[in-house]
Amino acid sequence: MRVGLSLLLLICSVFCSEITDKTKLKWWQTSIIYQIYPRSFKDSDGDGVGDLKGIISKIDHFVYIGVKAIWLSPFYPSPMKDFGYDISNHTDVDPIFGTLDDFRTLLTECHKRDIKVIIDFVPNHTSDLHPWFLASVRGEEPYKDFYVWTDGIEGPDGTRIKPNNWLSVFGGEVWKWNEQRQQFYYHAFLEEQPDLNYRNPKVIEEMNNVIRFWSEMGVDGIRVDAITNLYEVEDVSLNEPLSEKPGVPEFQYEYLNHIYTSNLPEIEGAIRGWRNAMNEFKTEDGVPRFMVVEFYETPEKRNAYLGYGCDLPFNFDLVDPGITADCGGRCIRDMVDIEYSALPKHSWPNFVLGNHDRKRITKKRGAGAANAMNMLLLTLRGTPTTYYGEEIGMEEVYVPFEDTKDPWGLNYGKERYTEFSRDPCRTPLQWNGDSQSGFTTAEKPWLPVHDNYRTVNVETQKTSKELSPLQLYKQLAELRENTAFQKGDLKYAVVNDNIFSYIRNSVGDPRYLVTINFGKTNSKDDYTDYTDGRFLGRIIAHTGNMKNEPFYKEDMEVPLNGILLQPDQGLVIELLNKRQEL
Ligand code: GLC
Ligand code: MG
Repeated sequence: MRVGLSLLLLICSVFCSEITDKTKLKWWQTSIIYQIYPRSFKDSDGDGVGDLKGIISKIDHFVYIGVKAIWLSPFYPSPMKDFGYDISNHTDVDPIFGTLDDFRTLLTECHKRDIKVIIDFVPNHTSDLHPWFLASVRGEEPYKDFYVWTDGIEGPDGTRIKPNNWLSVFGGEVWKWNEQRQQFYYHAFLEEQPDLNYRNPKVIEEMNNVIRFWSEMGVDGIRVDAITNLYEVEDVSLNEPLSEKPGVPEFQYEYLNHIYTSNLPEIEGAIRGWRNAMNEFKTEDGVPRFMVVEFYETPEKRNAYLGYGCDLPFNFDLVDPGITADCGGRCIRDMVDIEYSALPKHSWPNFVLGNHDRKRITKKRGAGAANAMNMLLLTLRGTPTTYYGEEIGMEEVYVPFEDTKDPWGLNYGKERYTEFSRDPCRTPLQWNGDSQSGFTTAEKPWLPVHDNYRTVNVETQKTSKELSPLQLYKQLAELRENTAFQKGDLKYAVVNDNIFSYIRNSVGDPRYLVTINFGKTNSKDDYTDYTDGRFLGRIIAHTGNMKNEPFYKEDMEVPLNGILLQPDQGLVIELLNKRQEL
């Protein structure tokens, strides 16, 4: 009996290693994270703005496309000056989005389907209508020093003037004079978003309590907003040096080098505190709550955050400046390689194509690139984050200045608003061919629906006979469940001006070759130098066919010594165990 058991264990230690290995990965390493911008996902009550009940009604969409975690941009009470990133109560739901009970239902329904829920945590600032700020303006304790207040300096005519040259991320002034308190307050973003004072332990405690509130309810993780802006130096007499970047006007954030207001070392302590607050709560699967931070700096700087207790710093290398129109195979490999080579040992990589603050990938690469981009994102090693709409290849909508909603765009006026406005990437998700793409029954949604909604929508793409972005997305998400894609090595194969290709390998077979043409011309390449003697492969997934040859089909066998790909065409190929006869 005993011998039998040890024999079984021995056999298993050889053959089950892959299975046991796989269970070691945490959910946030094996899931695709899907970002929802609640205003634009699905409207349930016909007011033209998406809401929680809308999201609940579409949970099956997450199951269909195979995402196992959703991240919701803010749904808390807010005057909506920055569309929810100006919070007036951190522990409730804005009536425009529903109620706390709706959120609880969303959480329960997601968990029933094994989908994790990540919420947005906005620690840097509150709304100027938050009760803490109102009390702070009145000088009431304990809120008096909850924000960053200063007397400023005395101007030539005896008036008070701002203490330094600091600039807002959205452009212009960071110091706002408050008549009632007779002081200036600091705002890294809008003047309606006063910065909290993290040098005040009571602020730290209150924000830890926010984390406790949601963790207790059962949320699985947080996405930390604007982490770099959390601290400023105490000495507000310090002016920031000019960046000397050519062509940047004095008003624009990039005009200065933010040595006194960005990425200060004190941030580490705050993150450690949030981690501890989250760790007070057990989870069913034993995996601690997840924390990802928003961070647009160099890989060295973002990776430092891994040591502070955050699980992932978002890797925006593909987003900002990211994959531009001219970035070919080698250029994309280099961008991907930054993540792999800069990451400390045993840390987990991640990749993002877009979010609610940056241009959609189809804006930069054209609608035809959607499939190639999703193939890249979903077959790389590391956690992918998909911005809603990417799964159907949604495109940006042109919004005239007169209809612009985003304060960042409006700040720059008619001349320059298109460079900054985030409205075009935030338009309603296109569900079907009905009026307003089935997003709302309102006559006018808060942002316009793209004209292409009759063909580019979830329903049409589900049933389309020709391979649609949605179908490919679903297929790739299923493929990611395979160990080779979840945790196998990634080795670069053919890389040139057009092609970026790589081999995904697992402990044993099968191995996969992913090859995508990111260039502007056809490319025929020999991959056999990278396939360990194998010369034949079988197509598992392809990005769809163009007008001209080559036409690819699933299950088709292809010789690996001459694969022809058109621009934006990509293949996932299973390498067959056939070696060249000598
Ligand atoms: C982050 C958010 C952005 C918001 C800003 C201020 O960058 O992603 O949408 O405007 O913080 O909260
Ligand atoms: Mg609504």
